[in-house]
Amino acid sequence: MTDSTQFWSVVPAAGVGKRMQADRPKQYLEVSGKTVLEHTLTRLLQAEVFTSVAVAISTDDPFWPRLAVAGQAGIVRAAGGKERADSVLSALGAIRAQASDDDWVLVHDAARPCITVSDIALLIDSLKNDAVGGILALSSHDTLKNVEGRNIVGTLDRAHIWRALTPQMFRYGLLKQALEQTQGNPAVTDEASAVELMGLQPKIVEGRPDNIKVTRPEDLALAQFYLEQQQ
Ligand code: CTP
Ligand code: MG
Repeated sequence: MTDSTQFWSVVPAAGVGKRMQADRPKQYLEVSGKTVLEHTLTRLLQAEVFTSVAVAISTDDPFWPRLAVAGQAGIVRAAGGKERADSVLSALGAIRAQASDDDWVLVHDAARPCITVSDIALLIDSLKNDAVGGILALSSHDTLKNVEGRNIVGTLDRAHIWRALTPQMFRYGLLKQALEQTQGNPAVTDEASAVELMGLQPKIVEGRPDNIKVTRPEDLALAQFYLEQQQ
């Protein structure tokens, strides 16, 4: 890494939140006095490492302009895309003029409001001299079963299984190329999977278990609990 290497953050926030079954996309639900998206962006800004944070928002999103953070310095809006990867690519496009291929990009789900400044710093410190990049991840405490229909056909070796979290940290040029080459591939559910398809091996950095993704209704209370614990 050279002294001129910049760090950027990309936040895909253009999902509809189908599994949450709420009256609005889950990133606009309130927990602890702020929307999920405001918590997420506040934490990223508090890290004080990013040149800017590019947020992918649906073009017809009526909620975003009402958030105070929308007009804040260091926040760049990009158009959302059909899939998460399309939203990430769109946000990469929004910072294209200022970013270099060697700059680092940390992609972080809007739906993970409990990300801590310490985990962001840990990811960056662990990987800033790495050739490929990598992700925050968690080991699995439960025994994991391979199931066909309702029948268990095997037990996975837990030592080799990690759960992928975000942020996921890759160099701008590599990430853009990986996402462009895999566009439309349903196997690409995170940035790492796109990079893996290029034959590379991203690293894992063990993250905190409270960095949950708000997905279902019951996750909101849990996120609130963690946010308050972290104060
Ligand atoms: N996302 C996005 N653009 C899409 C789809 C998802 O920016 N076309 C974002 C979501 O806003 C979220 C993150 O990607 O911050 C992770 O996706 P997920 O948790 O699956 O959110 P949703 O797709 O909104 O939820 P669901 O799958 O339940 O509909
Ligand atoms: Mg989704």
